[in-house]
Amino acid sequence: MKIINSISGMRKLALKWKQEGLSVALVPTMGFFHEGHLSLMKAAGSKADHVVVSLFVNPAQFGSNEDLNHYPRDLEHDAKLAEDKGVSCLFCPDAKDIYPPGFQTWVRVEGVSQRLCGTSRPEHFRGVATIVAKLLIIVQPDMAIFGQKDFQQLQVIRRMVSDLNIPVNIIAHPIVREPDGLAMSSRNTYLDAQERESALSLVQAIRLAEKMVALGNRSGPEVIQAIRNHIQSFGNTKIDYVFIGDPESLKPCREIVDETLLALAVWVGKTRLIDNTLLKQ
Ligand code: PAJ
Repeated sequence: MKIINSISGMRKLALKWKQEGLSVALVPTMGFFHEGHLSLMKAAGSKADHVVVSLFVNPAQFGSNEDLNHYPRDLEHDAKLAEDKGVSCLFCPDAKDIYPPGFQTWVRVEGVSQRLCGTSRPEHFRGVATIVAKLLIIVQPDMAIFGQKDFQQLQVIRRMVSDLNIPVNIIAHPIVREPDGLAMSSRNTYLDAQERESALSLVQAIRLAEKMVALGNRSGPEVIQAIRNHIQSFGNTKIDYVFIGDPESLKPCREIVDETLLALAVWVGKTRLIDNTLLKQ
């Protein structure tokens, strides 16, 4: 596996593969790999001749009071894990090359960025859309794979790729969970033992909602209230949002129809966790 830091080096390698007629899948990440990341890499490897994994803790998507400086990092271990998954190239650019002095071009996806996580993290998706656009331009992959764990992020990227006519196939990958159901996340490492217990309230609330819908309840407000009650019964939790609505526009709805998005963000201690599911009738 090659580890490439320079943008020009990455371009050169991707261009060479293209000229050889080989397909490329990009998996954008911020590192500190867990099984969620690794399953994206595995899926990418089954679809393309070469997998490029980008590893860049993108400062532009962190708010000024967020965890940029504490975000977990372990490049050496990540490189080993990626190599074991058959990744061809780990692209680790420097922040000073991605955002050089004088940088002033941002990709802002309106609408879908402004709801859910966009309310409490107003500049977050501008940072995500900009870095993903840059990575797609640098690597020019045939496809790029994103996890449904970050459902809103996936929709922001789909919208951007469609609106800007970027020639890439965006592939969604299902949420990978711990054996007890907690959605895997690099941020789970922040949780102490008691918070880890409270973190289970998210997936439990999702299962509760799925059960209510399976039993015939179609009322968004009733399901939201049940979720809120369940999460609030755990210590150290603070709900940011519980959302029920259209999975594409991310507009809220009162009636649950087939394939309605349920998404939640909850603070557990100082850690903000997200989870979601598509409710089915
Ligand atoms: P990061 O949080 O490192 O996640 C990288 C990719 O892994 C994203 O597509 C994310 O949705 C996916 N992922 C994370 N946890 C997952 C899980 N439990 N199951 C399935 N997929 C999972 O998301 C980002 O980085 C950044 O915002 C990025 C897109 C790289 C832009 O900086």
